[in-house]
Amino acid sequence: MPTAKVNHPNRAPRTAIAIMAAGKGTRLKSKHPKVLHEVGGKPLLAHVIAAAVKVVPAKDVFAIIGHEADRVRDVVAHTGVSLVLQKEQRGTGHALMTAREALSSYDVVIVLSGDAPLITSSTIEKLRGFHVSRKAAMTLLTAQLDNPTGYGRIIRKGAKKEEVQAIVEQNSLSAAQKKIREVNAGFYAFAVAPLFRNIEKLGTNNPHRELYLTDMAEILSKRKERVVAVETSDAYEVLGGNTRAELVDIDQRIRTAKIQQLMAAGVTVFYPQTCIIDSDVEIGADTTIEPFVQILGATRIGSDCRIRSYSVISSSQIGDGVLVRPGCVIDGARVEKSAVIGPYTHLRPGSEIGEGAHVGNFVEAKNLRLGKGSKANHLTYLGDAEIGEGVNIGAGTITCNYDGVNKHKTVIEDGVFIGSDATLVAPVRVGKGAYVGAASCITDDVPADSLALGRARQIVKQGWAKSKRSAGKTSQ
Ligand code: UD1
Ligand code: CA
Repeated sequence: MPTAKVNHPNRAPRTAIAIMAAGKGTRLKSKHPKVLHEVGGKPLLAHVIAAAVKVVPAKDVFAIIGHEADRVRDVVAHTGVSLVLQKEQRGTGHALMTAREALSSYDVVIVLSGDAPLITSSTIEKLRGFHVSRKAAMTLLTAQLDNPTGYGRIIRKGAKKEEVQAIVEQNSLSAAQKKIREVNAGFYAFAVAPLFRNIEKLGTNNPHRELYLTDMAEILSKRKERVVAVETSDAYEVLGGNTRAELVDIDQRIRTAKIQQLMAAGVTVFYPQTCIIDSDVEIGADTTIEPFVQILGATRIGSDCRIRSYSVISSSQIGDGVLVRPGCVIDGARVEKSAVIGPYTHLRPGSEIGEGAHVGNFVEAKNLRLGKGSKANHLTYLGDAEIGEGVNIGAGTITCNYDGVNKHKTVIEDGVFIGSDATLVAPVRVGKGAYVGAASCITDDVPADSLALGRARQIVKQGWAKSKRSAGKTSQ
């Protein structure tokens, strides 16, 4: 039997996601815009964008920015999301009004809050699915909170009814309404056409004299448009970071979940309450993280590593089987497998430590390439240096890389032995297999396989001390 011709192809509704991120964040008492405050090691807004781009392509995500727009733009530019400028911030309803043109070619817009970072892509999908299945004009996500203070409350059309009559903001609640625990998450799905047909009806009759998007519930409902609510299964997903206390609470939740995830994947974290691990960190199985460790940014740590206490590792790559002894600071560095770092080593950006190399007590490195199996174990500064394989750097060695104006490079080839307390004045090269005597100041290149001594010859004056002592006695 031939299939019937369909006049209205049942295509999926074109969906956009708008993220309201233009507000100032007065309650944070900060000079920084609210959505750039960090939880789990990245800005609030970055979390929301990460969830949104899992649901629709980045170009269909519209971040509505306004307060300190340039700074916010710089932070989100790499995500490829579209931006809408809300020059004056006259409320959440006004934020959507400014996005009218950008959103006009879509069927459905999902609205998220840039300050509510715990939202997941599956909840956004659930909200969209519910909205489409109910053919609603507006669908709100709600949650039951033990402490609903500060949130808008949901007035349903009746007990157990999906339909919503209105959302009432905290400072307009009657005594009876204050008892309602079902709150407005601040995440909505709208059918684009009825939203913009009616958005001009928003007024500013509220204590803040703002255009509240929440009033759309009552406006649409009065016009017999379908306004429904769906409750989230995880109430914590709706938490917003309006105050410092709320930000810290959200941060803790993100980090606790992160550590649980790592442990489930085979990582041991001792005393997890004392460790700070950012959301984007990756760690391999059988790695152990000791108490009071911080692992930040996009750091990747391999498997079978041990990160001992009081180390702070940021934006770095650590290979398998690496031991980081206590008290290390590792920033923007790369450490190959089986290397041993610390205690008290500072690896600054651009440091690359080769396989099986050792960098030890009180060693500072910057822009260093240290070859496979090389050792710099004690009290040393290695800056702008390229060091080959199997090199031994003696205690107290210093690469003098800075002449007060420019930085210069030190090259130390494979198999070199640098005696203790050497100073290598860059630019300088020590050839393969050469020796540099202890306490030498090396200002010229050292050819391969040679010995360089750059220090004053020792003088011995026999009996000098004894005669000085006896001269002192006779003069008294
Ligand atoms: C809002 C809801 C409240 C809900 C709560 C959930 C309103 C009026 N109230 O309150 O019902 O329970 O979220 O977290 O919407 N923003 C703009 N432009 C503006 C104003 C705000 O982009 O002109 C942005 C803010 O940056 C923020 C978001 O919109 O990311 C929400 O604004 P906020 O002031 O935090 O609203 P709440 O008081 O939390
Ligand atoms: Ca908020």
